[in-house]
Amino acid sequence: MERISVGASKKYEVVIGRGLLDRCGELVSEVKPACRTALITDDIVDGLYADRTEQSLREAGFSVSKYVFPHGEQSKDLKNYERILEFLLKEGLSRGDLIVALGGGVCGDMAGFAAATYLRGMDYVQIPTTFLAAVDSSVGGKTAVDLGEGKNLVGAFHQPIQVICDADTLSTLPRDIFADGSAESIKYGVLGDRDIIEIFSKGKVQDELSHIIARAVKTKSDYVERDEFDNGMRMFLNLGHTAGHAIEKLSGLSITHGHAVAIGMVIVTDAAEKLGICEPGSAAELRQILTRNGLPISTSFTGEEIGRAAQSDKKRRGDSLKLVLPRRIGECMLYDAQADRLGEIFSLSEAVKR
Ligand SMILES: NC(=O)c1ccc[n+]([C@@H]2O[C@H](COP(=O)([O-])OP(=O)(O)OC[C@H]3O[C@@H](n4cnc5c(N)ncnc54)[C@H](O)[C@@H]3O)[C@@H](O)[C@H]2O)c1
Ligand SMILES: [Zn+2]
Repeated sequence: MERISVGASKKYEVVIGRGLLDRCGELVSEVKPACRTALITDDIVDGLYADRTEQSLREAGFSVSKYVFPHGEQSKDLKNYERILEFLLKEGLSRGDLIVALGGGVCGDMAGFAAATYLRGMDYVQIPTTFLAAVDSSVGGKTAVDLGEGKNLVGAFHQPIQVICDADTLSTLPRDIFADGSAESIKYGVLGDRDIIEIFSKGKVQDELSHIIARAVKTKSDYVERDEFDNGMRMFLNLGHTAGHAIEKLSGLSITHGHAVAIGMVIVTDAAEKLGICEPGSAAELRQILTRNGLPISTSFTGEEIGRAAQSDKKRRGDSLKLVLPRRIGECMLYDAQADRLGEIFSLSEAVKR
């Protein structure tokens, strides 16, 4: 079991290991005296892991009421958020009680937002059960729901009081959903962690899951601690995301986040090589790693289409934006790009449609 201390204004621990679900009550007791808890989860995770979680919490003296919502991004909306608030009220939860979010990023984001806002804010514990949620949502305190107009448009920064990652729960993930987490983990490798790159290039991911999660959590928290509110250092975490978000949007969300980020990373690595910024051969190395881990390396959208879609992205600052470009696999830089030149830059890549 590994414990990583995370957070800037408010510290909390990410506890990582195997078999932790059956010990979650005992772990939560370390940070919160026995109280009422609302266990929030989706219907798939409910069938797999809710009973064990509930039992462990009860054994540690917590009382538990459970709220289950239908799985999928379409549930991360204001309607469901409102239902959760009504459930908390009906169950009589007070500000001093606890929300436990058991599930992937959808559950964590929505339950986290409910925790941020119910009675002006209460504590929550995250138990991520997808690889993506373990390596990404567990750090940074971002909570949100979607509007019809786009993802994550309503939300708040609200840190959990603890995150418990049981690597065993990832064994039931469908391949594609597992791959989404691989893409986000490989991103940390490209940013600066050759150790992660080695693991993914050798295909030893299953044996090293706890280790990968721990490295990813450390790397992300390093960036976030230096920049809690999304302005400077944190921009590096957007590697592959400017093009990635655009591809996700253009596909009407049929291409999932991690898959889109994988393609986005290939696009910028290709472009950086063509611009003379990145060591030749880096894009080839990245393609090999992504392919080996079940991720796509090209798209049927053109560079111009992706550029246009990216221009309307919320991360735009004025007319220029910072694009994260690799210098090599293991080191990146921020590059000032005019928003209206994005299409041209993305078109340098062979990963886009010509
Ligand atoms: N807050 C953040 O910093 C942050 C970071 C990255 C992503 N996100 C958000 O996370 C969401 C995507 O996360 P996700 O991919 O985890 O989505 P998700 O929560 O929808 O999970 C994907 C699917 O996997 C199923 N599932 C979850 N755990 C499982 C398990 N152990 N075994 C089998 N099936 C399981 C779920 O039921 C769901 O159908 C997006 O809404 C994104 O915006 C947030
Ligand atoms: Zn991401």
